[in-house]
Amino acid sequence: MTYVTWFREESLISGQEYLGNQLIAQNASSKGYNAIINEYVYIDTHHVSDILKKIPDISNMMKGVGIDLGGGVGCISSTVAQNETIQKIFCIELVEDVVKLCQPIVKENILGKNSDKVTSVVGSFDNLELEDNSIDFAISWDAMHHSSNLYKTLLECKRVLKDDSVFVIVDRGHNDSTPDSEIERMLDIIYDKEFLIKNYRSEDTILTRRENGEHEYRFSEWKNYFKKTGFDILSSTIIKTSTDENKKLKNDVGIPEIFVDYELGAFGNRKVVFVLKPIK
Ligand SMILES: C[S@@+](CC[C@H](N)C(=O)[O-])C[C@H]1O[C@@H](n2cnc3c(N)ncnc32)[C@H](O)[C@@H]1O
Repeated sequence: MTYVTWFREESLISGQEYLGNQLIAQNASSKGYNAIINEYVYIDTHHVSDILKKIPDISNMMKGVGIDLGGGVGCISSTVAQNETIQKIFCIELVEDVVKLCQPIVKENILGKNSDKVTSVVGSFDNLELEDNSIDFAISWDAMHHSSNLYKTLLECKRVLKDDSVFVIVDRGHNDSTPDSEIERMLDIIYDKEFLIKNYRSEDTILTRRENGEHEYRFSEWKNYFKKTGFDILSSTIIKTSTDENKKLKNDVGIPEIFVDYELGAFGNRKVVFVLKPIK
């Protein structure tokens, strides 16, 4: 498979997060499609489609040429590209082996002969080698909270988006009432042996979630970033797996919540979806 290479800052490709994702890619890719999805994405293509269908008006707005920021193994890009209104999508992923070893398998599995609708890019979402005002839509699934400089990332995305485009962010969010001490506690958690083994790391590794590139934003912190970088919020939706914990925990900013009967994967089995419009 051919892929495009864009500039990546040295600091982004030398840390623990990069190493961890390389390890998963190298090991899971040899086991095939299901292992790649289970170990990297945690949610399969039909559930990704189902979630996107639940977001107000999203399917009418995602058309033409798009970008997937932090595209991982290509599951989200390939799912979106199934839609006939999509001409092409650049799947931009920092980690070379994730692109080289996993994306061909995932694209082939989901898109078959239409795999070339997804252009694989080894690159950083902070340096998009695309013209200003050239892109019809952007999507980022569980990746914006991994940005080392969210302000820069959002401005770079806005630069390439056309006036009438949308940016769909699917990510994690915490209630505004979450105290600083709880945010710090989450970031300081040291991964346990089970996680380390599952992620192909040595059992005696001492690694915190913070060192692994995680950030934890409250809903209002997300909104402030969007405001500061010049995005209007068209809609906000929370999607949750219907677990007892998720039924009990209500968000404290009035975002409508939708429950699904399958696992959403990652933090708490719940996600917030923001549909943004760049203010040009
Ligand atoms: C939690 S994963 C989500 C991947 C994919 N969107 C999915 O849902 O499977 C976050 C991804 O963002 C990528 N990433 C982190 N920083 C990046 C950057 N500066 N540019 C591009 N990708 C980045 C990571 O390598 C990782 O694959």
